[in-house]
Amino acid sequence: MSRQDLGIKGLRIKGMCEGEKSGKGETGGKENAELGTRIAKLHQGRTLMKTIYDTIYEMAKPYLNTRYNDVHIDLSYDFTKRLLQYYPQADEAIALPAILLHDVGWKMVPEEEQPGAFGPEVKNHEAQRFHEIEGVRIAGEILNELKYPEDKIHEILDIIDGHDTRMEALSLNDKLVKDADKLWRFTPIGVDIDHARFGIERIPYMIYLEDRIKDWFFTPAAEEMASEALAIARSEFTGENL
Ligand SMILES: [Fe+2]
Ligand SMILES: [Fe+2]
Repeated sequence: MSRQDLGIKGLRIKGMCEGEKSGKGETGGKENAELGTRIAKLHQGRTLMKTIYDTIYEMAKPYLNTRYNDVHIDLSYDFTKRLLQYYPQADEAIALPAILLHDVGWKMVPEEEQPGAFGPEVKNHEAQRFHEIEGVRIAGEILNELKYPEDKIHEILDIIDGHDTRMEALSLNDKLVKDADKLWRFTPIGVDIDHARFGIERIPYMIYLEDRIKDWFFTPAAEEMASEALAIARSEFTGENL
């Protein structure tokens, strides 16, 4: 937001306060009560308009409170939605549930076994694979309970199965999920969490990430988003200009 925008906003607020002082307070009060009711109704409507993805997220949540997966999924879900705008031929009914559910299986991996099962150097391949297998099982249970379309469940589970161990993407939907899965790492929060748990200083870790952009991503839009997010992280952590 530019300073000019802030200035305009400031003036508007000042104007409203002056209006109240000049005897319009009572009418304003009535209007505010009506406005309050209208806003409450709007919020009620919003709750009613809850999407199937909100429901899937709520059902996934009890499985996400490990390994910072709650943070990871929040950020990667937003990246998936952004990527879908660039690739409208992809199917959001596949990509969004897949990203929300892909890591639910980590909840079944004891926390002491998790550190070696992901990151720049995977040592515990068994635990890594186990979180994919358990992810398929739990995601299948959630989607079947919601009576999600059968054909879509199949494609979502195929994406979850092997999402870390399979290097090739199965489809455009899978490409978007794979890209969004990695994009959160480039945000300031992702850098902060990962450099600490991988035991790498922030600056070398950001250099490591920059070097991965060309290898990791399937779509050009994701490459751009990664560079953009990393530039923000770099400026936050080093004060360097974007
Ligand atoms: Fe994973
Ligand atoms: Fe993930």
